[in-house]
Amino acid sequence: MADLCCTIVNLPLSTKQELLESNDLEKRLKTLLEQMVKEKERLLLQSEMQSKMMERLSKDQRDHLLREQLKTIHEELGEESPQSGDLRRKIEKAGLPTEAMKVAKEELSRLAVVQRASPEYHVIRTYLDWLASLPWRKDSGLETQKIDLTAARQVLDADHFGIQKVKTRVLQFLAVNKLKKDLKGPILCLLGPPGVGKTSLAKSIAKALGRKFIRASLGGVHDEAEIRGHRRTYIGAMPGRVIQSIKRCGVRDPLMLLDEIDKIGHDFRGDPASALLEVLDPEQNHTFVDHYLDVSFDLSRVFFILTANVLDNIPAALRDRMEIIDMSSYSRAEKLEIAMTHLVPKLLEDHGIQASEITLSREVVARVIDEYTREAGVRNLTRELAHLFRGVAEKLAQDPRPTKVELCEDSVEITLGPRKFFTEKIDDCRQPGVATALAWTPVGGEILKIEVTRLEGKGNLILTGQLGDIMKESAQIALSLLRATWGHSLSIRFDKSDFHIHVPSGAIPKDGPSAGVALYTALASCVHGKPVPTQLATTGEITLRGTILPVGGVKEKVLAAHRAGIKIVALPEHNRGDLIDISPDVKSQLTFYFLKSVDEAISLAGLTIPSIPYAPMPTKPDQQPGLSN
Ligand SMILES: Nc1ncnc2c1ncn2[C@@H]1O[C@H](COP(=O)(O)OP(=O)(O)O)[C@@H](O)[C@H]1O
Ligand SMILES: [Mg+2]
Repeated sequence: MADLCCTIVNLPLSTKQELLESNDLEKRLKTLLEQMVKEKERLLLQSEMQSKMMERLSKDQRDHLLREQLKTIHEELGEESPQSGDLRRKIEKAGLPTEAMKVAKEELSRLAVVQRASPEYHVIRTYLDWLASLPWRKDSGLETQKIDLTAARQVLDADHFGIQKVKTRVLQFLAVNKLKKDLKGPILCLLGPPGVGKTSLAKSIAKALGRKFIRASLGGVHDEAEIRGHRRTYIGAMPGRVIQSIKRCGVRDPLMLLDEIDKIGHDFRGDPASALLEVLDPEQNHTFVDHYLDVSFDLSRVFFILTANVLDNIPAALRDRMEIIDMSSYSRAEKLEIAMTHLVPKLLEDHGIQASEITLSREVVARVIDEYTREAGVRNLTRELAHLFRGVAEKLAQDPRPTKVELCEDSVEITLGPRKFFTEKIDDCRQPGVATALAWTPVGGEILKIEVTRLEGKGNLILTGQLGDIMKESAQIALSLLRATWGHSLSIRFDKSDFHIHVPSGAIPKDGPSAGVALYTALASCVHGKPVPTQLATTGEITLRGTILPVGGVKEKVLAAHRAGIKIVALPEHNRGDLIDISPDVKSQLTFYFLKSVDEAISLAGLTIPSIPYAPMPTKPDQQPGLSN
């Protein structure tokens, strides 16, 4: 039996040999038994493992089979799976227009047949989610024809001090919409330097209209797809900002602020401005097609407001459709009023300070305005005041809590540090060849000193102070004009002189045509050897014929002149009307002259024509003692 078993059981050859060799029967049977038990264990383990594996495999198969059957059952019954049923209900509730509904239905039936694990399933699913969650029919509730204009004015007045002209323009715009019963018309664009309240005014308008407010910033948008979305074929495609904003606010008639539209760029990825045109143009925006959605969405109920700092960068096609409302910079008095009536109460609230816990005089705020800010709006002013109040909060948070903290003029310097700005006061030193121009910058007006020196040379013009191309041309025009009119009557040999024109603050680039009159006056004063009154500042573009053309930014320029202590301001005749914008208190402290030609500018500056004694030619700067090294 031992021999027989030996052949049947699967034993290694060496063990078999060992069994055969042993003659003791009992020992032989014991060894065999031992081996057989081992073998049995091995076999048992093997079969167990196999059956486990089989089990797992068949479960997967079973699941798959069952799912396939379920699908067939649903198809037979004309139903769909629970998830797509949810989606279908959502889509039906969303109130899609016919065209979009058709697309949605097609996509829904595609969703039913694609594998859940496939990437396509998710693409379709996300798309359908977008369709379902857009506010196709949801309104904020208020209609344009029901606007209460008196209430609207109250809201605007409560939120913003002054800017009466702007508020009136806005209300007139709303009144037209009310009468016309729709929003088809130009698009409102608030134009002005930073911090004059463009964004916050738009917010107030939304409040006044009872509409939801949503802001989409366009600064730095280069890609058309950011406005109009990516096609769905791209991985990770999304709708553009407009549709995204609409979804976020959940109604189809919000007030949408497209902020900083002068900062959009365009490059090889398409032109965002033309996409914007489609969004804004009332003629086409009721069928706005986002690339991602691929069905049209009606944007005609959205109240769009744009903001921009400068007009020049806005594409002409867009500019055409805009109703531009100018919000120019604030005067010192206006800033003070805004600070006392709006900024301070709001900041106190933000810092958890009761109005009764602090004494703050107008003088202190005025000091902050004068010495710590130089800007068109009130943004830095807000920041500096917040800094002051943080100091107050620190004191009030101590134990025991002080009953009152006084902010005096000294505490300004302690908290904010040494003064940051010195008013660009004119100096009284009168020298030939110096004239004052008024310049406009995006952050307000500025005065520019223009200096001219004549050197021995060959009729060259040297320009320094980072002048832009247009300003260089103005300088050339001024010199040519001077030579053409007086070249013969003066004892100066223009062909033997070089003129060096410098505009200080050399590191700041300057450009624009409006320094023309001042350049001419400075040159004339140099060749006549007579100083221009320091109280006088001019602005205006000149032509080769000596006429003076109108310029922009008059309000900012006049305010800058006033700040700097100028008494006489000469403006182009055609800019006479711009004085309307300037507050009477500023106007009353200045004398205005309106000029048609450079001759008038010259006589205003007290530079009378010819009969000037020959001015001895100065030596070249590098030959002057003390200047050469
Ligand atoms: N006339 C004003 N009255 C009250 N607050 C103002 C006024 N103008 C500006 N502000 C305040 O100045 C801050 C900056 O305004 P913001 O709208 O951001 O400026 P912008 O968008 O023009 O750069 C806001 O907190 C705003 O409330
Ligand atoms: Mg803004």
